[in-house]
Amino acid sequence: MGWSGILGLEYGIVQAPLGPDISGPELVAAVANAGGLGLLRAPDWESPEYLKDLIRKTRTLTDKPFGVGIVMVFPYKLNLKALLEERVSFLQLSWGEITKELVNEAHSFGVKVVPQVGSYEEAKRAIDSDVDAIIVQGVEAGGHVLGRDGLISLLPRVVDLVGNRDIPVIASGGIVDARGYVAALALGAQGIAMGTRFIATNESYAHHTYKKKLIEMDKTEYTDVFGRARWPGAPQRVLHTPFFNDWKDFPDGENELSQPVIGHTTIHGKEREVRRMAGTVPNASTAGDVESMAMYAGEGVGIIKEILPAAEVIKRLVDGAQLLIQQKFHAHISD
Ligand SMILES: Cc1cc2nc3c(=O)[nH]c(=O)nc-3n(C[C@H](O)[C@H](O)[C@H](O)COP(=O)(O)O)c2cc1C
Repeated sequence: MGWSGILGLEYGIVQAPLGPDISGPELVAAVANAGGLGLLRAPDWESPEYLKDLIRKTRTLTDKPFGVGIVMVFPYKLNLKALLEERVSFLQLSWGEITKELVNEAHSFGVKVVPQVGSYEEAKRAIDSDVDAIIVQGVEAGGHVLGRDGLISLLPRVVDLVGNRDIPVIASGGIVDARGYVAALALGAQGIAMGTRFIATNESYAHHTYKKKLIEMDKTEYTDVFGRARWPGAPQRVLHTPFFNDWKDFPDGENELSQPVIGHTTIHGKEREVRRMAGTVPNASTAGDVESMAMYAGEGVGIIKEILPAAEVIKRLVDGAQLLIQQKFHAHISD
């Protein structure tokens, strides 16, 4: 049941790429060193030299394989070229069209392509493009949410679609512990990808207030109130903070551009103003009214009770899932 790991890795556990500048070299290397797949996040603008530096820095922290995620709605061609030239092991893609040409190009550099999809149709296109694995995101997921389907129904459909092709299916959305891991395996996945659980780790670059809220709060909401100008048409799942509660009915025609500056942040080396209702979640560099900034989280947030080292997250998942399978399923099967 998925214990041989996927894509040549020790385990089928993926740390999702986390923007803006939340999954840096320390987190990615910690995940890689613990046997999972760690993913850096490429900047939302062309910055090939910066990205190469990020990759090289990660290599000083691990000699294990890792990857980079690109959100394809932002300019990315030069960033893509940079990561291919650096020959990272994995390219994660989201919010764009996966083509055979793109996959072939990555393969010619020895880079495996792992897109994240949010619907059956998107999964079909990715499979037809000969991707190496496929991450299926359910509507439970934190951050920008690609589709409207729940994981429990979408995932097995994609598993059936993949059939006997050698394309591991990875479940994403709302998974934070061994129970979720085993549930995903039962639905036919060979691995899991987690965002929120890895934000609440020592190594993530998330602001400490954001991490603290992930521990304390347990309710999320699917909304589109944040970042409408920067990234239109991309709904997101956010933590139901007191600020969100006050602003969740932000009128349709409005966006962050009409709002005051409430803080500053540095994203991939660039200093930025943060306006109220912007979609920039606070990272470690953010200063200002952090409580009034967007905080993305998946539906599993209520189960996260402590900040842990990333390696401990992975260890608990693997040990816990093996135990769970043995105690709850294996004994009965062999009776
Ligand atoms: C703060 C945050 C940032 C994210 N950034 C990205 C991203 O840059 N690219 C991407 O493909 N997915 C991104 N995601 C979504 C994840 O890939 C994944 O689908 C999601 O985290 C899974 O749900 P979970 O948070 O419940 O684990 C992000 C999620 C969060 C919470």
